[in-house]
Parts: sequence; C-alpha cells; structure tokens
Amino acid sequence: MNFQWYPGHMTKAKRQMQEDIKLIDLVIELVDARIPLSSRNPDIDDLGKQKARLILMNKADLASDEQNEAWAAYFREKGFYVVKLDARTKAGMKAVNTVIMDACKEKFERDRKRGIKNRPVRAMVVGIPNVGKSTFINTYAGKACAKTGNKPGVTKGKQWIRLNKNVELLDTPGILWPKFEDQRVGLYLALIGSIKDEILNIDELSLELIAILQKHYPGLLEKRYEISKEQKPAKILMEIAKNRNCIKKGNELDYGKASALVIDEFRSGRLGKITLEFPGE
Ligand code: G4P
Repeated sequence: MNFQWYPGHMTKAKRQMQEDIKLIDLVIELVDARIPLSSRNPDIDDLGKQKARLILMNKADLASDEQNEAWAAYFREKGFYVVKLDARTKAGMKAVNTVIMDACKEKFERDRKRGIKNRPVRAMVVGIPNVGKSTFINTYAGKACAKTGNKPGVTKGKQWIRLNKNVELLDTPGILWPKFEDQRVGLYLALIGSIKDEILNIDELSLELIAILQKHYPGLLEKRYEISKEQKPAKILMEIAKNRNCIKKGNELDYGKASALVIDEFRSGRLGKITLEFPGE
C-alpha cells in the first residue's frame, strides 16, 4: 500500500509550531495508546527541546491495559512525564493537573528564585490529526473556556485559555504530521482510522489486522467470530464472511463487507482492548 502526504501543509504547520513553542513552558503531546510510536512525529523532540514534556497516551480505553503500562514505562524511561487518558471523560483530568505541576517544578523554582510569583505555566497541545486534541482541550478546559486574550509580549492574536491559577493553555492545538514514509507506520495509522478509508485497500488492511491479532492476541478472533483455529488470514476472513452473513448478489461471499466489519469492530473497541504496536518490537 502507498500513502500520500502533503509536505506543503507540513512545512507551514511546522513553522507555526516553531513560533508557538517559543511562548510556552510545557508541550502536551497526545499519542494514540494503540500505536504510541507510530502516532508520533519525532520532529517534536527537536522542536520542544528546551521545554518540559508531557505525553498523554490518549484513547487508553481502547488499548491493552498491560501494554499501556509497558508504554508508559517506555516513555518515562526516555524522560517524559506520562498520563494514560480517555480524553472524553473528566476522570483523568486531575491526574493531568498533578503531573503538569510536577513536570514544571523547575520552572516554578526558577520563577521563585527570580522573585516572580504566580506566573502560570503556559502549555500547548500537539499531536497528529484525530488523536483527540480538541476532545482533550474541551474536557480539560471545561467551563474554564474564558479566553484571556492578548497580553503584552505575546504574539498578537494568540488566545490563551486560563484553566486554573497555575495553567494557561494555547487554545489552538499544534498539528503534527505522521511519518508516513515507513509502510508499517502507514498501516497502523490506517488501521486506527487516521487515514481516509477511500484511499485504502480495505481487504489488505483487514488481513494485516487479522495477522497482528493472531500473533499477539491468540484466541481472540476464534472466540469473537466462532471460527476454527490456526488458519491463514485469508481463510479466517472467509470464515468471518460466512459466519457474519456477508453475502453479495449471486450468493458470493462479500470480502469487502467482512473486512469493513472486522476493522470497524477493532476501531470501536468491540473486538477488545487492543494495542497494535509493542515497545521494543
Ligand atoms: P483531533 O482534534 O486531534 O483531530 O481529534 P478529536 O478531538 O476531533 O478526536 C477524534 C475522535 O477521537 C473523535 O471521535 C473523538 O470523540 C475520539 N476520541 C478522542 N479522545 C478519545 C479517547 O480517549 N477515547 C476514545 N475512545 N475516543 C476518543 P469521532 O468519531 O470523530 O467523533 P464523535 O463520534 O466522538 O463525535
């Protein structure tokens, strides 16, 4: 499969982000917990070099609990602060606040030494499209959406959301472009639905998904679709088509429909809590 991307957009977004990052203390980077590395763009490590760094492993509700732990340890080991999150619910936001305070303790200490009191942390949210940036900002900011407007010394037009006495958030998230060059990354992004389905070969995609599930979640497909064990992915897809009544005119099996069904059940979490990418793999 070949995936397209758009360097023009990317260059513009990157330039904008370079400007925005100058204004902040903390980069809040969202990754998709199902593919924590493939949903990152490592450029952010360079862009955010001098800043405190927090990784939110979002959509953790859709990913394997065990792998969430393993990935959180992986990122912590690399020096990031980490919170596992379902950005749709308020429940995780307290943990986010606590960790933000922790991540910015050096800044608070610097301010204290210079006699600066009560200057809030300025943060911005970044991540690839569809990772949950807007959802997070809405849930986190909640009713606190009163914009603080322009401030002296701050680039004109920037809007800050004052979240509490300690944190201000840039209201527009920074968009990072995924690293499509690696075909494996492209495949994972396609599976979680962050590449438009029209440009994908859905049969090929479902066969790849089936192969990953067979390898890392043995027994899952057999149980869900009542199919026989240890088959090649193509045979499994055929059995799914049969068992789920995916039939075309002329009584032929409809592989397209069966493929879409498996992918949809994966994306919605009905197949279970599934991580596709593993640390160290
Ligand atoms: P973006 O700004 O980064 O582009 O992403 P956005 O917030 O628009 O979120 C993309 C989709 O992901 C939305 O679903 C949103 O509800 C969903 N989402 C965000 N965070 C989480 C999470 O932690 N867990 C789960 N399971 N889903 C999450 P959508 O289908 O596009 O919209 P809708 O059906 O929610 O209206």
